Parts: sequence; structure tokens; C-alpha cells
Amino acid sequence: MFRRLPVARSLEGTNETSIDKYLSGALLIGDDYGPEELARWYAEEKEGYAELGARDAQVYEYHYHAWNQHHAFRHLPSRTFDRVLGFGSAYGDELMPLLARVGAVTIVDPSDSFVHAHLQGVPVGYVRPKPDGILPFPDASFDLITCFGVLHHIPNVSFVVRELGRVLAKDGFIALREPIVSLGDWRYPRRGLTKRERGIPSVFLEAALQRARLRVVRKSLCDFPLVPRLGRPFFAHGVFNSHAATVIDAWLARAFAWNQRYHARTVIEKIRPTAVFIVAMKEV
Ligand SMILES: C[S@@+](CC[C@H](N)C(=O)[O-])C[C@H]1O[C@@H](n2cnc3c(N)ncnc32)[C@H](O)[C@@H]1O
Repeated sequence: MFRRLPVARSLEGTNETSIDKYLSGALLIGDDYGPEELARWYAEEKEGYAELGARDAQVYEYHYHAWNQHHAFRHLPSRTFDRVLGFGSAYGDELMPLLARVGAVTIVDPSDSFVHAHLQGVPVGYVRPKPDGILPFPDASFDLITCFGVLHHIPNVSFVVRELGRVLAKDGFIALREPIVSLGDWRYPRRGLTKRERGIPSVFLEAALQRARLRVVRKSLCDFPLVPRLGRPFFAHGVFNSHAATVIDAWLARAFAWNQRYHARTVIEKIRPTAVFIVAMKEV
């Protein structure tokens, strides 16, 4: 059962008086954390996704292929990408549709549960991230980075986006998907979510990309709440593995873009797109 914990056990820095500035979407909690807080957050998120049910490779099923294709991959140039980074890619499933045109694959993920040597015959190198977010690669190491649903698990998003920009080569691409809503009041346990995850306000995310000198070439809203909710019984292999559901979702997300807000408190406020896909390019 969903249970409210007393504020005494709340996350540091988010007491009743300070929470509003975060829930308003004006600031992103964690973005200004120092080394100790970063280390604590990292330790708590390290196995968070694995523990939500992703640890068992036998039953794990990737649910977002049509979504990724529609909003991100079809907007990439049709060239090959020799060096690809899957940032927070778990088993690497998100890269499968691209495998015919990628060279070496590196996956950065903190969980030990996902590590395996090959992705459908393509060798994969796994690298563990550092709690401070510094990526252990030289500048311009990759031609393509995928980062789907990862930054919102990380505290210092601005810094990590800068790092992703640093390790991307000139003319390289980054494909991102992130929730842009609070995902609830994170001072309390939320069913089906890790302890620390929270969405990233879309204005904040775009500003971080701009500071990292990554130019947005495509942005699209998605994840209209009724689509996954109503579609679940009809799509055993994931609503967003369906092209039709993905297109309907994109259409509804666009139609309700006017109702975007970070933290919704009423049913009406919840009728809005809750995630964004961005394809960005490094031009300098
Ligand atoms: C919601 S899952 C997304 C998995 C996959 N990218 C997808 O499209 O579904 C979040 C992923 O981020 C990883 N993660 C958590 N903290 C991270 C960090 N500090 N650096 C990189 N990845 C991290 C998790 O282990 C998990 O694999």
C-alpha cells in the first residue's frame, strides 16, 4: 500500500518550506548538490531500476521501440555511427534497432545486473558511472549518444548534460527522452518509482542542452497519461511498442501542450504531456 512517511524521514533539503520552489519547476532538486549528497543519491539509485523488476533478464522486456523510433531514431541521419554510447541503457535494448549501422557500443550504467558481453553479436563495453557524474572518456569519444529515461535518476543534471556534450564528437547526435513532470512529491514513497527519480522541467532541460552547446534539432512531447493507462490491456508487449498507440499519444500530447505544468495537483492539471523526446546535435 502507498504509505505517507513523516516529514522527519524526508529527503534532505526538501522540508515543507523549501519544497515549493522545486515543485513549481523553477529549480531542479539535486542539481546543486555537493560531493557527499551526490554520493548518497548515487548509492540509492544505483540498483533502483534493477530492483523495480528489471534485474531478471529472463523476464525483462523492452517496451519503448516504437516510441524511440517515432520520436528519435527516424530523425537521425541515415549514416553509420562508429562509436555509440548508451547512457543508462541497462541491457542495451534501446540500441537494437540501430545495430546494423553502429560500430563499437559502450554502455554506462551503475547496476551490475545488466552487464553482458554482446548485444546480438555486437560487443558491448560496460563502464560504471562515477557519483560526481564525470564521464571517464576523452573529449569527442562518441558519434551518437542515447539517453532514454536516465537523467531524471541523476542529481546534477546540468553537469552531466555538459559531460555528455563534451564526450560527443562534432557533428554527433544525442537522442534523449525524459519525464518533464515531478512524478509526485518525492519526499514520500511513490509506487513503481525509485526513491530519488523526479522529472526534469522541459525549460530546464533545454537550457542545459544549450549551455552544453548542443543544438536541438527535434523536440516532441509525449506520454499523455491516458494512453498507457487505457492501452495497457490491449498491448501485452508495451503500449509504446505499438506504432498506432505512439502516434495517438503524440497527437494527444501536442493537443494538450497548453496544459503543461511540472507538478499537477488536480485531475484537470494532470491532463497534459508528461515526457519529452529531444534529438540534439553538436555543431562546434
Ligand atoms: C528508467 S531506466 C531506463 C533504461 C533504458 N534507457 C530505457 O530506455 O528504458 C534508468 C536507467 O538509468 C540507470 N542509471 C541510474 N543512475 C545512473 C547514473 N548515475 N548514470 C547512468 N545511468 C544511471 C539505471 O540503472 C537504469 O538502467
